[in-house]
Amino acid sequence: MTVTGPTEAAEPSATGSATAEPSAVESAAARAAGLLSRPVAINGLTVPNRIVMAPMTRMFSPGGVPGEDVRSYYARRAAAGVGLIVTEGTYVGHESAGQSDRVPRFHGEEQLAGWAKVAEDVHAAGGTIVPQLWHIGMVRKQGDPPFADAPAIGPSGIRLNGAEGTGRAMTRADLDAVIGAFAEAAAAAERIGFDGVELHGAHGYLLDQFLWAGTNRRTDAYGGDPVARTRFTAELVAAVRAAVSPAFPVIFRYSQWKSDNYDARLAETPQELEAILAPLAAAGVDAFHASTRRYWLPEFDGSDLNLAGWTRKLTGLPAITVGSVGLDGDFIRAFAGEGAPVGSLDNLLDRLERDEFDLVAVGRALLQDPDWAAKVLTGRFADLLPYDAAAARTLT
Ligand SMILES: Cc1cc2nc3c(=O)[nH]c(=O)nc-3n(C[C@H](O)[C@H](O)[C@H](O)COP(=O)(O)O)c2cc1C
Repeated sequence: MTVTGPTEAAEPSATGSATAEPSAVESAAARAAGLLSRPVAINGLTVPNRIVMAPMTRMFSPGGVPGEDVRSYYARRAAAGVGLIVTEGTYVGHESAGQSDRVPRFHGEEQLAGWAKVAEDVHAAGGTIVPQLWHIGMVRKQGDPPFADAPAIGPSGIRLNGAEGTGRAMTRADLDAVIGAFAEAAAAAERIGFDGVELHGAHGYLLDQFLWAGTNRRTDAYGGDPVARTRFTAELVAAVRAAVSPAFPVIFRYSQWKSDNYDARLAETPQELEAILAPLAAAGVDAFHASTRRYWLPEFDGSDLNLAGWTRKLTGLPAITVGSVGLDGDFIRAFAGEGAPVGSLDNLLDRLERDEFDLVAVGRALLQDPDWAAKVLTGRFADLLPYDAAAARTLT
């Protein structure tokens, strides 16, 4: 049974009779709707269905302030059925957190006022929303906006490619300041009406630089084996947890791959993965968002489970999968300016049916098409659109 594919899905019911068996297309539509439209809880939040908008940096917030266009961009997707929106990465209130004046910030009066309106509009449209809180660490180049003088900082002052000398290792004061910035941002998220927070621990940015041995060469309590490399992030999670209400969801996004090293791995075995995830769960994470490029690939030998599947199995917590959902061709090609054709949802629905993971995040397909969720939830597969890289240049 093929769920997507414009030509097949466009075929009308074979009989047209009210009493006849449903066609393959109708059954596929009913199955997709049945599996994806179930509500799910993340701590105190009930997400109305299983479709999540993946965080995507858009750079349409001059001065770090999300404006009217950003509001309608997110609200449009909520109105069309996305259950949970994870916003684009938004910088926490630490001067070294970012590298652009067009990426929204999650600190400052004007910036937070802009974000409050985004949350309000998404709620009015029936959706739920969490900001993705972000610190880029050693990815920063000193001199870049929004705070040109701020140095690049990271666990060991080492960039993702191993280069040294363009930033510095974080001191105790730096560790405390960054933890404080994340905790403050999380408290602000709750105060201004968001439904939770997602901490960006993926793709080689600051928190991931601690988790990954390639960038963490510390010889103090924050470096060494996987448990020690997780210590800083676990302390940060605990501080975030303490800064918000007990029922306020804290989601943690992580990945094996890094932004300029797609073969990098945090964990070679389920045991190594557990050594990282267990302390984070104990510190207060309510759900994990396991970032992969192709959700259908097994993560470790001897099992078909993908990274989100292992995450759920090892922690018992809700897990979000992501990576080329609804498309045939992964998003690295999008960064090279390439598009991607519509792909089948069969494998995804099989995994969802087996409870391998709980939620499904969708990136490019939703960037391309604000109505993607509505089309999938109502079985309009023939109307799904291929991804065109030009979609990344506008905010619609
Ligand atoms: C334009 C663009 C911007 C992205 N920005 C972020 C980001 O800010 N934070 C993040 O964790 N991932 C980011 N990602 C990765 C996506 O969240 C997602 O994991 C990836 O696109 C794979 O999903 P897809 O195949 O459905 O597009 C970005 C991806 C794209 C295409």
